[in-house]
Amino acid sequence: MSKLNIIILAAGKGTRMHSSLPKVLHRVGGKPILGHVIDCAKSLEPQKIIVVYGFGGETVKQVYEHENITWVNQAEQLGTGHAVQQAVPYLDADANTLVLLGDVPLVDHQACAQLIAQANEKLAILSFNKADPTGYGRILREASGNVSAIVEHKDATEAQRAITEVNTGIMAMPNQHLTQWLSRLRNHNAQGEYYLTDIVALAVQDNVHVVAEITQDEWSVTGINAKSDLVHIERVYQSRIAVKLLQQGVTLKDPARLDVRGELSCGQDVEIDVNCVFEGYVTLGDDVKIAANCVIRNAIIAAGTQIAPFTHIDDTQIGENSRIGPYARLRPGTTLAADTHIGNFVELKNAQVDVGSKINHLSYVGDSTVGKHVNIGAGTITCNYDGANKFRTIIEDDAFIGSDTQLVAPVTIGRGATIAAGSTITKNAPADQLTLCRAKEQKSIAGWKRPQKIKK
Ligand code: UD1
Ligand code: CA
Repeated sequence: MSKLNIIILAAGKGTRMHSSLPKVLHRVGGKPILGHVIDCAKSLEPQKIIVVYGFGGETVKQVYEHENITWVNQAEQLGTGHAVQQAVPYLDADANTLVLLGDVPLVDHQACAQLIAQANEKLAILSFNKADPTGYGRILREASGNVSAIVEHKDATEAQRAITEVNTGIMAMPNQHLTQWLSRLRNHNAQGEYYLTDIVALAVQDNVHVVAEITQDEWSVTGINAKSDLVHIERVYQSRIAVKLLQQGVTLKDPARLDVRGELSCGQDVEIDVNCVFEGYVTLGDDVKIAANCVIRNAIIAAGTQIAPFTHIDDTQIGENSRIGPYARLRPGTTLAADTHIGNFVELKNAQVDVGSKINHLSYVGDSTVGKHVNIGAGTITCNYDGANKFRTIIEDDAFIGSDTQLVAPVTIGRGATIAAGSTITKNAPADQLTLCRAKEQKSIAGWKRPQKIKK
């Protein structure tokens, strides 16, 4: 196999996005557009990836700091040929180069691999048939079918504009030819730009064979120019993920109402109801059921667990056969062991809850360690924050916390302890005893009247 260099063109301004964010950092499936292109490039195992950046480049570089990428600044955008010229000093003389566009998020590994396979001693370009080819470079072929040139829309004659085979912008060729052709580019055209596409005619002059591979998958070569392109591509991307999940045996109540903005991996017999959003890395074990309208981010949910509607889960691990929600909120740092029940309007943050424990109604449990088979009654609040510092609450196995209790941390509730409803607990409660802390007596005042509105 020959050496491979990949150049990603990403210097364009993206004016039509009307955004302060560089175009290539807008997201598809939760990942920046450029991230999709970089991932495809990496999957081709090149010796080098070179990104030509311009507008907003520093921000772009920061996002991909950890990647092994050569960054080349194209200060002035004088055309695609000029952009590739900027990368020439970094190319390996004995390699082939694949040129990719930084704004084509669904770029396909297979199509690129096929072009690369052709690039030895040839110029291989990826084309497609576009019903309305307006704006694209047209592929000119001789009667024999051989490609002779690409002519840009603005430079094309009426007859050439009728051609529907267009250039995707993706091409591959040997570097010794590329560098030579680039040095011969001129900007004598309608846009006064250095067109990369002019290398096709130069190749023909040099008797280098040009092949155009026609792709049928238009979405895989569609670039993003405006927000409307972004939403279309997002739907295509999501429907492709849904198809993959269905193929793996996941039950989706409606594949059109699922959003995966990251990576979702599922065991057997997983069911997902409508309008669920998965972000980051989410793993669902066998038989997990996710009801409608849940947002789940960076979570591992073990086999047999059911998540009821309108539940938010963020950075949390949940053990087997648990019941969560509806309307539960699990915040970062939370781990639930097997057979736990978390009910409606319960918020957990950095709480570790052991096997078989239940927090079923209207509670806040934060910075807490909860033992096995604990029952936390409705309206229990761990007061973990004094306005400056956070403290932990420890509730040992088999404890029972009565409703409407405040546990003022740092505090420990002993094993098997019972806390009476309505208590404010500020000191450790001993094991196996009833602890209560309420107003001393219940009073009734005879003849008391409710206040009346004062008439004006
Ligand atoms: C280009 C092709 C055209 C093809 C079309 C496919 C040329 C001359 N034309 O046209 O044949 O049909 O793509 O979408 O190549 N870029 C730079 N620096 C520049 C100019 C562009 O980095 O100076 C980058 C852009 O960020 C973008 C890519 O190159 O990612 C394509 O640029 P764009 O302006 O969209 O090219 P088109 O004129 O649409
Ligand atoms: Ca374009």
